[in-house]
Amino acid sequence: MNVLIIGSGGREYSIARALKNDLKVKNIFFAPGNGATENFGKNIDIKDYNLLADFAKQNAIELTIVGPEDPLTNGVVDIFKSKNLNIFGPSKNAAQLEGSKVFMKNFLKKHNIPTAKFIETDDLKKVSDFIDTMSAPIVVKADGLCAGKGVIIAQTKEEAKEAAKNMLSGESFGDAGKKVVVEEYLDGFELSVFAICDGENYILLPAAQDHKRLLDNDKGPNTGGMGAYCPTPLATDELMQKISQDLIKPTVDGMKKDGNPFEGVLFAGVMVVKNIPYILEYNVRFGDPECEEIMALIDSSVFDLFDKASKKQLDKLSIKFKNKVAIGVVAASKDYPYKSSAPALITVSQKDSENAHISYAGVTKKDDGLYANGGRVLVSVGLGSDIKEARKNAYELLKNVRFDGMQYRGDIAYQALEK
Ligand code: AMP
Ligand code: GLY
Repeated sequence: MNVLIIGSGGREYSIARALKNDLKVKNIFFAPGNGATENFGKNIDIKDYNLLADFAKQNAIELTIVGPEDPLTNGVVDIFKSKNLNIFGPSKNAAQLEGSKVFMKNFLKKHNIPTAKFIETDDLKKVSDFIDTMSAPIVVKADGLCAGKGVIIAQTKEEAKEAAKNMLSGESFGDAGKKVVVEEYLDGFELSVFAICDGENYILLPAAQDHKRLLDNDKGPNTGGMGAYCPTPLATDELMQKISQDLIKPTVDGMKKDGNPFEGVLFAGVMVVKNIPYILEYNVRFGDPECEEIMALIDSSVFDLFDKASKKQLDKLSIKFKNKVAIGVVAASKDYPYKSSAPALITVSQKDSENAHISYAGVTKKDDGLYANGGRVLVSVGLGSDIKEARKNAYELLKNVRFDGMQYRGDIAYQALEK
């Protein structure tokens, strides 16, 4: 079988790494891939989705897997399906769960799925009146995609009003902020919960915890994620059961009922407050770096998982997970997340092993080797029988990785070690 993976990050690298173990998978293509994905296949440079679908036809691609949200919200799945191509991911309509916070919150309300109390509006007066009924902190969110920056947690009512004003005027986020969601602050612990969905059925994956801030002790600016671990002991079987029944099932059922059956990866950002789980947000794709750990833990065919999901056959599949913990530590370039950094040669003096490997993300290939190309450069993934061992394996490997300006957090999975 030939597989096409859309995307260029560590997430897509880790999916290919898992697929490569599958004897069914013959050739893997990446659009566009990164400097290291050619370890597993061939990078192709086709940006137009219609032309990409033509490429898939010509190269007998059996399955296309979409990594990031942008192609999904831009309708790549609809285009591929209209040409009878098999693709794993949500339609443009279903991808609105991530693409529009207004759509998401109204969906949650309509289907009685627990979430923070909110209003959505484009009217500053309504925002102001609602804020006057709340107590700080208050959360203000731009409607559209803002690369993870569209959420302001305001410590005072005045700050919340100011943030909403700047969004509504277009000053903060352009058109993405022309509508806002204002909501109550939920104070609990966060989980990243992933369900592979086929429109009707779903398979829940072990829950992960991400580390969004740049620096140790959750200090510094927000990032795409500086590390994650999975499964987390905070997600007990009882809590996962509740999340499945109270959040994921009504989401999958509600999307189907509304005529937007959800196929693909449903990523629920869950806040657990006093043992009750609430949806903070949905994403419609794997988290990065959460995907890198989950892929390393799956002990069944990843090809079958995505293939059956794209063919509405998940009810016929069960998958196994290794009885291990995985932790991923992101190494980022010098000026991340503020600006891009000059390319820096990467040296790695320890080979990938069964219990520690690298998933490459922001890298380019030159004649003399791989170069860090800005942003999140790579993820060191450690596996172990417990968190301590997994952590040791991830950090030991990272000690053998160097590039100018490399920065990483030293406290990934602290939540679980404090427990
Ligand atoms: P989002 O993009 O909606 O996930 O928001 C980004 C981050 O902001 C989340 O991962 C949470 O840490 C935080 N956040 C968002 N909404 C809330 C809320 N209602 N209460 C507390 N924290 C929130
Ligand atoms: N790591 C969080 C995300 O991918 O959105």
